Amino acid sequence: LEKQNQVGTLALTEDGSFTLAHPVHGETYHSSAGAMREALELYIAGSGLLAAVETGRDLVVIDVGLGLGYNALSTIQTWIGSHASNSLKMVSMESNLDLINQLVSGQGEWQAPWTPEWLTWAAQLRQVSPGQWAAQLKHPQTKTLFTWQVFGGDARNLHWSEWMRGQHIFADFIWQDAFSPKVCLELWTADWFQTLRRTAKPGAKLLTYSVARAVRDSLAHAGWIPKRIPGTGTKRHWLMAINTSEISSE
Ligand SMILES: C[S@@+](CC[C@H](N)C(=O)[O-])C[C@H]1O[C@@H](n2cnc3c(N)ncnc32)[C@H](O)[C@@H]1O
Repeated sequence: LEKQNQVGTLALTEDGSFTLAHPVHGETYHSSAGAMREALELYIAGSGLLAAVETGRDLVVIDVGLGLGYNALSTIQTWIGSHASNSLKMVSMESNLDLINQLVSGQGEWQAPWTPEWLTWAAQLRQVSPGQWAAQLKHPQTKTLFTWQVFGGDARNLHWSEWMRGQHIFADFIWQDAFSPKVCLELWTADWFQTLRRTAKPGAKLLTYSVARAVRDSLAHAGWIPKRIPGTGTKRHWLMAINTSEISSE
């Protein structure tokens, strides 16, 4: 199944969820084994997010490359489905503003099989200033809050990290889901991983699909400790990196 639109070519993945192929470089936003599956098995299950949510402490998630929203909405679904007595704050970054607008509208072609809940959560985002969207959700049972900030534009502009600094919050989890280093090198450098580390708590976990040597080296150089974790689908391994040290003061 292939259909061209302004954000990319629609493509069906093996779990029945849709992804897109980028209109210029052609790389898909997700593994062919499943867009939904990648969100749930790598980022959510691989990180242990649910267990962390159920400890009851307040959590902060950084979502690098909001894209089609699978990782972000799976994060919300995990929190809503738990007995969350904690609040959760999520900060997403996305350079393609057309994608953000389609995601919020519910009119994105990839959203056709989405549940009403997923569409409702995405539709909560309101533009609060040029290039910034925000949403707040209340947990149906515990009435605790999920706060979601989306920063449009190049993540290296660091508007998101200024916002986090203003809120005095640091990340517990990072979904590092940029296009591959071949087409998006800027989000795989030691510099970028250092930026992420400065906004992460000691013990924070960064999850990503790439186990490439260059990625592990950049992470290690920036003070993360990368290790392979078992993958599913077409990937034998994924990567988890831990920020074991004190927050860098550089
Ligand atoms: C692999 S896709 C993310 C898929 C997404 N996490 C999901 O769950 O559907 C990578 C995303 O990063 C975005 N991106 C690329 N370069 C960027 C940059 N410099 N700053 C912010 N976002 C960027 C792309 O537009 C794309 O949506």
